[in-house]
Amino acid sequence: MFVDHVEGAWIDVPIWFRSHRIDDDAALARIRDSRISAVVIDLDKGVGPTQAPVAPHAPANAPAPQAPDPETAKAKETLRRTHSAMRQIFAAIRDGASIDPGQARAVVDEVAVAMRHRPRALLGITRLKSKDEYSFLHSVAVCALMTHFGRFLHLDEGMVQQLGVAGLLHDVGKVTLPSEILGKPGSLTEEELEIVRTHPRQGFRILQSQDVSDMVRDVCLHHHERIDGRGYPDGLEGDQLSQAVRIAAICDVYDAVTSIRPYKEAWSAKTAYRRMWEWDGHFDRVLLGQFFVSIGVTGETARRPEL
Ligand SMILES: [Fe+2]
Repeated sequence: MFVDHVEGAWIDVPIWFRSHRIDDDAALARIRDSRISAVVIDLDKGVGPTQAPVAPHAPANAPAPQAPDPETAKAKETLRRTHSAMRQIFAAIRDGASIDPGQARAVVDEVAVAMRHRPRALLGITRLKSKDEYSFLHSVAVCALMTHFGRFLHLDEGMVQQLGVAGLLHDVGKVTLPSEILGKPGSLTEEELEIVRTHPRQGFRILQSQDVSDMVRDVCLHHHERIDGRGYPDGLEGDQLSQAVRIAAICDVYDAVTSIRPYKEAWSAKTAYRRMWEWDGHFDRVLLGQFFVSIGVTGETARRPEL
């Protein structure tokens, strides 16, 4: 079989799995025993599987299911702990109260540590978003991606920490949007889109009375700007977009397009790379290439910056 790509397993691909070919049953067995979750086979370049895939529902005489992967269990524990802190932060914002900057930093630290030790498990869990938890999981995922990318770019720890807070709070203005619009499955009408597009300014207004840095406010206000000036709310372009805003724009869109939701197709990391690369004028292309290197979807056009 010819393996076109390994689905989402940029951390777990074993060192021995360098070839695109699976030549014998032994190689197949090793892949099945590894932590790779799925591979995509190219039938034009090789044969397909000769056995039916394992049935999703195990037969009655099947062995007992294995205990959950310990890394996944730890990542779930991280999310459980951060969930209550995030609830408090957003409840304070809704009530017009002050958020505790120490609490936000603690969430960022927890997420950043989890992202350092078990990135695949953390992103694997946050990728699957129910309607009720979308906002929380999207905030955490963008926080995780921004801190991870900031470290990859060798930014200093203070900046990485601020990127994390910005990721957590970038969509805070959505607390002002009607829940019917926020929770509506499928596409929105033009009128509804106009309302959604108010959330960066609403968020910026909310954060003006909060103890957060100017960089966090900048990301909140401008994460939907585009490098060609066709974004919103201010239509900034080129150098007018700060580095933090450019990073946030990439991480925000990446998490949105790869999120698994009941009513839309979720792109694989590789598909996200291909399609986001085609969106001319949307992102900073140097950073976009580096972002995909940072998450293991190697691009030919980018590499990690030298120290
Ligand atoms: Fe947003």
